[in-house]
Amino acid sequence: MSFLKFKKSKAAHNIDYENLPEHIGVIMDGNGRWAKKRGLPRSAGHSAGADALKKIVTECNNMGIKYITVYAFSTENWKRPKEEVDYLMNLLMDYLKNAETTLAGENVVIKAIGIRENLSEELQFQINKTEEFTKNNTGIVMNIALNYGAREEIVRAVKNICKCVNDGDMDIDDINAQIISDNLYTQNQPDPDLIIRTSGEERISNFLLWQLAYSELWFTDKLWPDFRVEDLHKAICDFQARNRRYGGV
Ligand code: IPE
Ligand code: IPE
Ligand code: MG
Repeated sequence: MSFLKFKKSKAAHNIDYENLPEHIGVIMDGNGRWAKKRGLPRSAGHSAGADALKKIVTECNNMGIKYITVYAFSTENWKRPKEEVDYLMNLLMDYLKNAETTLAGENVVIKAIGIRENLSEELQFQINKTEEFTKNNTGIVMNIALNYGAREEIVRAVKNICKCVNDGDMDIDDINAQIISDNLYTQNQPDPDLIIRTSGEERISNFLLWQLAYSELWFTDKLWPDFRVEDLHKAICDFQARNRRYGGV
């Protein structure tokens, strides 16, 4: 059955399955504007955004992509009205609970990246539970960036490394780019090959700053709740047409 799906996708979209991005990052932006356009509260946009996400993760997994990192809540998103923050936290809670029966059944490994300590006890408990529940799966790894900020991630890495030096476990001269990567939330994962941002904004907003050094960036005006599998295929096709040089010729 998955073979049939594979064939169909390939025929319809000219995707080269030998050259898939190994890791895709997604800045899921535009939920609020999607709701506003419909005269709905922003919360309706977030809820529609969660539905869109489910389909994208399933398709990435079916295609054979190994990692997806989705930006769900930034360290700066606490600036939003309490009502909206509370709604997003509840939505994430439901998403993680639900994932145990849906995404987990599709063999997805779910991880949360970001600062856990200032999330509610209940949410921390649910994160641990979902991670534990899916850790032996063998499909795509889905990192949910939740209370995530790349600058915080780098500060945290620097502190860890300084502590190792202070304790005499590492020499300053041994610090290199690999050591920094090893101290990020995404340790042991490849850097993202492709970063997708929806909603027409062309900025990074503190997402994976270290890891995206050589990522291809792909922007679309579509608002996140309208983002579909076809848009994902388009992003991958465009990615495959690019020439990644990594500073070479
Ligand atoms: C992205 O949509 C979701 C989060 C940041 C949590 P927004 O809520 O930022 O939607 P816009 O940008 O206001 O339209
Ligand atoms: C980035 O979107 C964060 C998430 C998608 C979770 P924002 O809407 O918070 O970013 P800015 O404020 O437009 O840069
Ligand atoms: Mg936004």
